[in-house]
Amino acid sequence: MEKEIELKEGFLEIIKNSLKENTFVKMTLGKYRGSEDGLENIYVTPVKLKESIKLAFRYKYKTRDVYKNHEPEEAAAIIEDELGKNFLHGGLFTTQNDFVLEYNKRRIPRTYTRKASFTRVEVKEHNRVKTRHIDSKDKYFFLLGITNAKGEVKADKYDKFRQVDKFIEILHSQLEAGELNEKNQLTVADLGSGKSYLTFAVYNYLNNKLGIKTTVTGIEQRADLVEISNHAVEECGFTGLKFAQSSINEQKLKHTDIVIALHACDTATDDAIAKALKAEAGIIILAPCCQKYVRKNINVPESLKPVFKHGILEEHLSSFVTDGLRALVLESYGYETKVFEFISGEHTSKNIMITAVKNEYSEDTYLEKVVEIEKMKAQFGLNDFYLDKLITQK
Ligand SMILES: C[S@@+](CC[C@H](N)C(=O)[O-])C[C@H]1O[C@@H](n2cnc3c(N)ncnc32)[C@H](O)[C@@H]1O
Repeated sequence: MEKEIELKEGFLEIIKNSLKENTFVKMTLGKYRGSEDGLENIYVTPVKLKESIKLAFRYKYKTRDVYKNHEPEEAAAIIEDELGKNFLHGGLFTTQNDFVLEYNKRRIPRTYTRKASFTRVEVKEHNRVKTRHIDSKDKYFFLLGITNAKGEVKADKYDKFRQVDKFIEILHSQLEAGELNEKNQLTVADLGSGKSYLTFAVYNYLNNKLGIKTTVTGIEQRADLVEISNHAVEECGFTGLKFAQSSINEQKLKHTDIVIALHACDTATDDAIAKALKAEAGIIILAPCCQKYVRKNINVPESLKPVFKHGILEEHLSSFVTDGLRALVLESYGYETKVFEFISGEHTSKNIMITAVKNEYSEDTYLEKVVEIEKMKAQFGLNDFYLDKLITQK
């Protein structure tokens, strides 16, 4: 056992030295034995972001690639964590030698060294993290702790930064497709605005990139987050942006053109839908978070039990039933809905997006959808799924 630990530690030491001495060319992790669906390899290469060197990790899945950048120390820690646990093969290429650490089925390691395949290090340059809809240089990202003083996205905030960018891209496409496109003034509510990265980004995008005079309100139950957000508003001089401390339920939302909620916890997404319906929002965009309500109350039909007897599958089924029913409720009120995965590399249960664009309301459609909803509830033994209860209470 000691010898095995020594082998891995020796290999990690070579990685760290090659990073320090700039002899690190690239690294490949292979023979994936972990539980993440479709993941095959991780490829690590140095990349220059502004003036500093980072390690770009390309997570190669069967059908897609996911990229993340890390500081060298962080990169070494990830490799240490993955090697021998999830990946059984590590190939390191330096300008001095090629090194391999590999494990057999019984997780016993061996190392070997070969003549260097590469004689020089090639560092790709990225002047900044480029996205189409948001700019990491914007002051609010720094004030809210997403970027450092140089406007570089912090490694642990990169996922959030990408989510916000994708969210704005979707908002833009919904806006272009619908009637709100013709308005030159808009109102937006972000329900469960949290640390408010998205709220600021939406405000900035609509006002300063698209030139639509827009007022944006973030509703958040946590007083500390509201205070931080309002402070950043002052610093940025965003006169049409404000944050209010309130639970979504208690908020009296007047007519609002666009209602958004990114990862509002559990039934807070339902509260957001109920408010959006009341506010007669033209566009509703939701990325639901964890959900517990249906999970607690669902009664999986006998015919499905052989498959959904496993806890994790029942949990996913409950999420799907919840989101499907949410979409049906929106449809019953005359909205055209789409449900899809909005960003790769995220935990699946937080990766679903529901978009709804208001169309004509029709009594016939309403009744048809109510019948569909009731049938679904009956199939899954649900007395209610919270949103329906919420709406009928109002
Ligand atoms: C996971 S965070 C997401 C924050 C933000 N939307 C984002 O994606 O960065 C969820 C936030 O919603 C807030 N929240 C949850 N339930 C709420 C409710 N019923 N009313 C108001 N805020 C709520 C939480 O306090 C938390 O800040």
